[in-house]
Order: sequence, then structure tokens, then C-alpha cells
Amino acid sequence: MRFNVKTGDVLKEQVDLAVVFADEKAELPEKLSELFLADDFSGKPKQTLLLYTRNAVLPSRVLLVGLGESNEVTADTFRNAAAIAIKETIRLKAERVSFAMFGETDVDEPVLAQAIVEGAVLGSYRFLDYKTDLKEEDTFEVKEAILICKNIDEAEKGVSEGQAISAGVILARNLVNKPAAEITPARIGDEALTLGERHGIKATVLGLQELKEQGFGGIIAVGKASANEPRFIILEYGEPSENVPTIALVGKGISFDSGGLDIKPADGMVAMKCDMSGSATVLGTMEAVARLKLPIHLVGLIASAENMPGSNATRPGDIVKSLSGKTMEILNTDAEGRVVLADALYYAQRYNPDAIIDFATLTGAIMIALGQHATGLMATDQALAEKIKAAGEKSGERVWQLPMWPEYREMVKSDVADVKNTAGRAGGSITAAAFLAAFVGDFPFAHLDIAATAWMENPIKAYHHKGATGVGVRMMVELLKEYR
Ligand code: BES
Ligand code: MN
Ligand code: ZN
Repeated sequence: MRFNVKTGDVLKEQVDLAVVFADEKAELPEKLSELFLADDFSGKPKQTLLLYTRNAVLPSRVLLVGLGESNEVTADTFRNAAAIAIKETIRLKAERVSFAMFGETDVDEPVLAQAIVEGAVLGSYRFLDYKTDLKEEDTFEVKEAILICKNIDEAEKGVSEGQAISAGVILARNLVNKPAAEITPARIGDEALTLGERHGIKATVLGLQELKEQGFGGIIAVGKASANEPRFIILEYGEPSENVPTIALVGKGISFDSGGLDIKPADGMVAMKCDMSGSATVLGTMEAVARLKLPIHLVGLIASAENMPGSNATRPGDIVKSLSGKTMEILNTDAEGRVVLADALYYAQRYNPDAIIDFATLTGAIMIALGQHATGLMATDQALAEKIKAAGEKSGERVWQLPMWPEYREMVKSDVADVKNTAGRAGGSITAAAFLAAFVGDFPFAHLDIAATAWMENPIKAYHHKGATGVGVRMMVELLKEYR
């Protein structure tokens, strides 16, 4: 989809479909309001009405899309409305579409344009790599989208940001949606190398031999019983400098989580190809940041392994020495994410970062705590937590903070080793974070538990689809754009 930015009257632009966003108070031009009964469209959220204009205006069809109460309209309202609109555009096989807003909004022009682009691109996302019998609607592509705006320069800035971010999100979604038989740790490593080449980003992939030589005990322990050997992946965008912050972004890359010897029941295992979503967020963020050429030093670290049972598997009761030298008692082989992340988080310290942030599908408990409406945030540094919360609000990727009091750190101490990898069901998401915090030293650290937001069986937003969401990329770009 090519995006074009124009000023002027949407009703004088010859397109196959003109999308008109309207809030509940919006006054539509008479030429439009004459075409329908007022009761049929009132601007309620997600409401739509398709008009056949019969030469009353230049576009042959107009789609009204409701935004709701004008003072409740945010960028995410437009993102969602644009996704609703683009799905209709595809259904109608309209090749050229325009978008315009009627009514007042507090959303700034660049933010508005960015949100519409994200909504349109992410809303039209389809994952069809493994389908052999494609229908016309499956493959139909909208050719051109025209954004009717007030200020061309501002809108264009928003458009290019929206495009870069969407590319990152789609990269992440595709990696997560592909089966675990294809997306092995080695393949995640290859994806990182390709991304590095594409953008001139330094990329390094450590294989099993190097992991052994360098003492990545956690990653090795989790990956031991899989025929697909583990990897540790390092991406480095930009350079350390006085003028820009250094951020270490760490991703959980469990290509498949069977649970290991503490094997999961069938219901709990079926979607576990999504357990590398954190690594996908890291790669997607790198993609977007590189496209936007953000002034920042961003280090991406991915701990990747496949958690399988087998005669060589790590057992409950085993004690594993992490890269840091700290020992971890494995009480449950299904709490494997924190075990691989221990190595990666410790490794992150060598960059002397201003912040260490990890993304991980870490605990089922976060779904119980927050449902699918927010990512769990746990942080050792409140200033960092506040920045992440602000980025979450701006991007529409909400986070909700849980406490990290010292009592939780006590809970993960082991009788026989330094830490234990489970502390029971109570406070399960927080004790997991407390375990991670033992490996980051004194660096400002934030952990984002995306176990409930990385994958949707029943999507809530129109720009989400069944399967991977690519969560975290939008929020991270928002954070890194203005990081101080
Ligand atoms: N990958 C899972 C968490 C998960 C659950 C992700 C559901 C996505 C959807 C993680 O490795 C896991 O198995 N966690 C256990 C920890 C427990 C054994 C302490 C859990 O949450 O049950
Ligand atoms: Mn697990
Ligand atoms: Zn897992």
C-alpha cells in the first residue's frame, strides 16, 4: 500500500472508497448527510455505514466510521478505526482509498497520520504463507491510500513513522506465526544476521560450542534435550557515545516450550510456538529503529533455545550455573524463560547500559492478573517504569505495573543454590521478575511480561488478528524516540 498525503476536500478526490472518520458530534457535509437516515449513523465507536453516493460527490462509495465521544478519542481510536476501514476496503476490493476526519480532535496531525497508517497496514495483515488455496480477497492489495490532512509536512512525518513501525510489527508477527519446526533457535539467529545485513547493524550469533566455552549455563540447560541447538544472539545498532543513551533490549527466544520434563498438558502446549515472541519484539524494534535512524545506541540480546523433554533433559532438582556464576535450582523445567534470560540479562551489563529492558512470554499468571488488555511491567527503577508507562499510553500498547518489593526477592532464594526458578503460584509473575532482577546488578531494569498480549485467540483490536500481535514494537519505538 502506497501512502499519499494531501490537503483539501475528501469528497472531491476521485477514489474507489472514501473513508470518513466521524465522532459523535461531527457535522458531516450536507452532501453526505443527505444520503442516509440520521439514526443509521451517529458516530458511535466502531460503527460503520457504507454509502453509495450516486454522483452526489466524486468518490463512488463513502464509508463512515464512528470514533465515539470526541473527548475520548485517542490515537488508538484512529488506529482501530483505520483497521476497521481497511478490512472493508479489502472486502470491497477498492484499489484507491482515502481517509479523512470530520470533527474536532486533540490528536496532533503527525500522531494521527501515524495511527492511521499503523491501523491500515496492521489491519490488512494476513498470514498466508502456508495456505495453498487462496481466495481473491486473501491476496487483494489496496494500491493507494490518500490521507487528507491539514499540514502536509507534519502528516508525512507521521506516515513514515507509521510505516517503519508497522514493518517492525509485521516482521515480529511473521516470526511468531510461523511454526516452531521452521523457527528454530538457529533460524532466529539467521533472521538476526539478515536484519543486520539489511541495515548495516552489527550482528553476532553464538552457537552451542561458544555457549559452552563462555559459560552460558542457563541457555544450555534449557536447550539440552532438543535436536535444535540453542543460540545467543547479539545485535548492536549505533555506537556508545556521550550524546546518546545505551539501551539493552533483551528477548526471550524459546522457539517452542513443551515444558521439558515437567511437560505441559495438550491445551497449554498448543500455542507454545509463541514463546519466542520476546525475541520477535527485539528484532521488530531493531527493524523499526534502523528504518527511522533513531539517534540511540541500542543493543539487542536474544536467548534462544527449544525446551524439550528427553533423556538428556535438565531435571527438576538439577542445579545450573548461569553466566554470572550464580547458581539456579531448577524446581520446574517449565519455568525455563527466566533461566535463559538470566544469562542474557547478565551479559547486558557489559554494555554499561542506561537501562536494561526485557520482553518475555514469561508467566501464565500475568494472564490471570491483567487479562489481555495490558502487558505486565515490573521494574527496579521507577523513573524507567514511568517512561515505559508513558510510551505504553502513547502507543496504545498498555502496560500495568506490579510491585517489586524486597519480600518477593526473598521468595526466590533457594535452600541449596543461590536462586530457585519457581516460588509457587502466589505472585507468580512478580517472583519471576524478582528472579530476573538477581542478574542485572544495579542497572535500571524493567521486565515486560507479554505472555498474555503476544498472542490472541480472540483479538480485541481490529488491527490485531488471531495469532501473533507483534506487541512491544510500537511501545519501544515510542520510548526510544525521545529517550533521555
Ligand atoms: N512460556 C510459558 C508462559 C506462557 C504461558 C506464555 C501461556 C504464553 C502463554 C512459561 O515458560 C511457563 O511455562 N511458565 C510457567 C511457570 C511456572 C512453571 C512457575 C507458568 O506460567 O505456568
Ligand atoms: Mn515454560
Ligand atoms: Zn516459556
